[in-house]
Amino acid sequence: MKALEITKDIYWIGAVDYASRDFHGYSLSPRGTTYNAYVIKDKKNVLFDTVKESFAGTMLCRLANLMEPASIDYIVVNHVELDHAGALPKVIEACKPETVFCSPMGLKAIEAHFADHGKWPLKVVKSGDSVSIGKRNIHFVETRMLHWPDSMVSYVPEDKLLICNDAFGQNIACSERFADEIDRAVLEAAMTEYYHNIVLPYSQQVIKVLGQLGELKLDIDMIAPDHGLIFRGKQDVRYALETYRRFAEQKMQKRALIVYDTMWHSTEKMAYAIAEGLSSVGVPVRIMDLKNHHHSAVMTEVARCGLIVAGSPTHNNGILPFMSGFLDYMKGLRPQNRMGAAFGSYGWSGECTKILSERLREMGFELPVEPCRTQYVPAHAALKECFSMGAALGVALADKCPA
Ligand code: FEO
Repeated sequence: MKALEITKDIYWIGAVDYASRDFHGYSLSPRGTTYNAYVIKDKKNVLFDTVKESFAGTMLCRLANLMEPASIDYIVVNHVELDHAGALPKVIEACKPETVFCSPMGLKAIEAHFADHGKWPLKVVKSGDSVSIGKRNIHFVETRMLHWPDSMVSYVPEDKLLICNDAFGQNIACSERFADEIDRAVLEAAMTEYYHNIVLPYSQQVIKVLGQLGELKLDIDMIAPDHGLIFRGKQDVRYALETYRRFAEQKMQKRALIVYDTMWHSTEKMAYAIAEGLSSVGVPVRIMDLKNHHHSAVMTEVARCGLIVAGSPTHNNGILPFMSGFLDYMKGLRPQNRMGAAFGSYGWSGECTKILSERLREMGFELPVEPCRTQYVPAHAALKECFSMGAALGVALADKCPA
């Protein structure tokens, strides 16, 4: 297990987790992820973050091939979530660092996670603090709620390097380490998926942090996140920053998603008719059924859609459980600037569209048309109504979207 020099005297010593498939309900299929950790060799040798506990051996092996673990003087804990701090107790035991730096909220999180924290040489650093390590300095910037209270980033001006923890991450397990080594569409798909399943609720914080980085006039040539690929060179750094700004701003987009579950294919037939109506007025539409698409894949599609049309039949005076689960998941991720609509079939009580509409309104979605509801199986007239609903939604969406 070798360390990889990413720029002079700075090394990646992380782990590639090809097998991981679930991250608190976010499906990592089919690509897995990486847990990135970095070492700077200077008068003081510094380690930034660690890896998931089960990869501690892998990381320590990479480190041992670079230097004696006991040669690490400082550890910087940018984030305490266990995919980055799970190996911290073993790493501290092996390295015996002089100081472990963390944010004020990081201290509280370390105390709540690790029984041995009392024996560790912890030192709290705040935004604006810096430490000299020889030829270099490390500047700390707290990024509270991006995406945990303890989160912070570290900037090394001499190398124009931003070590930024979860921000700008992507869940990709591969042998490449740099963003310019893989297909850009694959990279952006992974950034989109990661942002919209992890970071989206904290979009206001993202805008604030991007503003802070601008105010600090940080000159950045390399962005090194704790998941996935590293952005090197001004062009890729600009791409990463602009992509995050675009994600965070959530401008309404002229594209629709129809997401549904179905019992006897009636709601499905309605979905297809609504899609044709949307297409007839020039709105691109994607249809995803929840039996065949994981909720995190659907959420990734929500990223580029200004209109979310939700369909479920009435089931036990409610809606089908996959739809209920998806709506819960989406609500927690707090998408903004979206329109919505509801549809579904029913047998006798018929509460589905009322429930779906209420759930969409709770999320702040604007519902420009009445829902479509069909008893049992939609015949020609009902499908025509669904088509008209789709066309009306498409016109309403186009009116709201920038040309
Ligand atoms: Fe990658 Fe918030 O942990």
